[in-house]
Amino acid sequence: MNDRFPPPARFAQRARVNADTAEALGLHGLHDDIRRLAYWSEAADALVWRTRWHTLVDWQPPRSKWFVGGTLNATETCLDQHLHTWRRNKAALIWEGEPMQGGRPQDTRTLTYQQLFDEVVRFAGVLRSLGVQTGDRVCLYMPLVPEAVIAMLACARLGATHSVVFGGFSAEALRDRIHDAGCKVVVTADGGARKGQVVHLKDTVDAALADPRTGCVQKVVVVRRTGHAVAMTAGRDVWWDDAMAQARPVTEAVAVDAEHPLFILYTSGTTGKPKGVVHSTGGYLTGVARSYRFVFDHKDEDIFWCSADVGWVTGHSYVVYGPLANGATVFLYEGAPVYPAPDRFWDIIERNRISVLYTAPTAIRTFMRLGDHHVRAHDLSSLRLLGSVGEPINPEAWRWYHDVVGGGRCPIVDTWWQTETGSIMASPLPGLTTAKPGSCMHPLPGVDLAVVRPDGHECAPDEQGLLVSRRPWPSMMRTVWGDDERFRQTYWVQLKDPVTGAPWYFTGDGARRDKDGALWVIGRVDDVVNVSGHRLGTAEVESALVLHKAVAEAAVVGRPDDVKGQGIVAFVTLKANQTPTEALKKELMAQVAAEIGSFARPDDVRWANALPKTRSGKIMRRLLRELATKGRVEGDMTSLEDFSAIAALQSED
Ligand code: WT7
Repeated sequence: MNDRFPPPARFAQRARVNADTAEALGLHGLHDDIRRLAYWSEAADALVWRTRWHTLVDWQPPRSKWFVGGTLNATETCLDQHLHTWRRNKAALIWEGEPMQGGRPQDTRTLTYQQLFDEVVRFAGVLRSLGVQTGDRVCLYMPLVPEAVIAMLACARLGATHSVVFGGFSAEALRDRIHDAGCKVVVTADGGARKGQVVHLKDTVDAALADPRTGCVQKVVVVRRTGHAVAMTAGRDVWWDDAMAQARPVTEAVAVDAEHPLFILYTSGTTGKPKGVVHSTGGYLTGVARSYRFVFDHKDEDIFWCSADVGWVTGHSYVVYGPLANGATVFLYEGAPVYPAPDRFWDIIERNRISVLYTAPTAIRTFMRLGDHHVRAHDLSSLRLLGSVGEPINPEAWRWYHDVVGGGRCPIVDTWWQTETGSIMASPLPGLTTAKPGSCMHPLPGVDLAVVRPDGHECAPDEQGLLVSRRPWPSMMRTVWGDDERFRQTYWVQLKDPVTGAPWYFTGDGARRDKDGALWVIGRVDDVVNVSGHRLGTAEVESALVLHKAVAEAAVVGRPDDVKGQGIVAFVTLKANQTPTEALKKELMAQVAAEIGSFARPDDVRWANALPKTRSGKIMRRLLRELATKGRVEGDMTSLEDFSAIAALQSED
């Protein structure tokens, strides 16, 4: 499987595979396993350890502990180690803000590794003075400014666990996440700049904290970004700059156990309540450091731009931890890709001499529609490698990305992974793999992915099946915060080894492997939709809709969308005496935006007199998906869709 990477003999010698682990992994495939484990052992050696680990992995499915006995602090790998080399004076972050109305036209800031270190240890001092201790949770609700990265690393410096909530989430969504993680401090900004507008982050924090369920929060730190007036609550809220001016830097990093939770990141699942995905320190950092190096073919001269927000896992792994662990130069851009002009992206690449670009298919399709001339107007010769992530990339977009953006000379790495996997699991490797447009090609070394039938047997070439990971990997999620049983139920009960009965990790994705073994991920097979690379549970949107007083029932499905990948269609039945109107439709859309965030707003709300259900009462989603895809059954916007007849004809499924 990983025969592209026959491990040099020294890997095997350095591996510390304990006999129990090998046995727990099952005897068949033992050589493969040892190779895989040897690979991770080698990868972990790139981190700065305070105490070296004695056992590579303790695997009791679904529970894994990696680098047992090891202690470390993630910031010593991401910052301190570089201060002893020439990279001390190398740019760690190059930030560019969205030009603001009345603001400076080009708001930029560059931080060298030394400067970033100084800011991080100073902000760690701020957090400590606010009562943050090892093991506490800190919520970050930030625009994409250097302070977001500084705050994440400052938490890590203290051994505090950060929970970054994407700035597009609503007050309700923020409130639930703060409450679930029991955050002691919230770090935010007066606002963020987006498409010429101010995103009122602090107001949203205030609204979330008005709810007694967020009583865990003691302090709020506010970055000045937009400069507009915000309310400051005495005794609770402090300005970032004031606090920094008074802080005593924490230069001593707190060494934590390799398994210590570095962060929690909420992601949508098949139920209404988002899951707090917990990532470890040692395993996670090993996964992101190694994958960044190999997949992006790291070169010290690179300027790496991953256009994701730090509110998503892509931002955690490939804006912050992966690149910084390697001493890379990271470019950060705060605003929207097409503001204030449609060529903004290309202008940024030209001016900053970006060499590696990592973005999402939805963005690529948007640019493609805007026209080649915007791209061609700029000198993009600095680019040498292009990456794609978040959803399947259609071959047409792939070719455009390759030919127009990459000028036909840059390899494309289509990287498949998930919030749960922590780091890239499958991708072509530049210079080694000949990529096929639309395929993420092969699992990375150390990773064992398979496409299987529901009974666990491997699918034949070109047969579509379910994508599973049969072996543990260091950066896998450790649990769902506060709900270990949910972790087991969500990922580990659906599929198992047909021979040994050992549980496998189920990704929720459907996939196939072609005759050459290349992996093609088709997309989710569960009730999760992927809108512009943002993952949403249909149940989450449904819960938001039924909160409205007029709504009796709601069923939400995804439908293909040329730009966004998927769009959201909601089928709604109203309570007696409620009239379906255009105004109500708008109200319902606004309701979803308020409960979750505007990115979750349905593209269409369709009225139904009843939802199609099986005799046991299960909503027939497949039918709804088909309906949503094929378009309107009735021409009239306000007409009812009558499912009673169809439902009666369907058998149980
Ligand atoms: C889901 C994970 C971690 C990246 C950001 C999204 C889909 C992701 C690809 C790809 C086909 C992809 C999958 C996956 N996905 N990358 N290269 N090709 N599908 O993270 O929000 O946790 O979503 O995104 O369906 O399960 P996420």
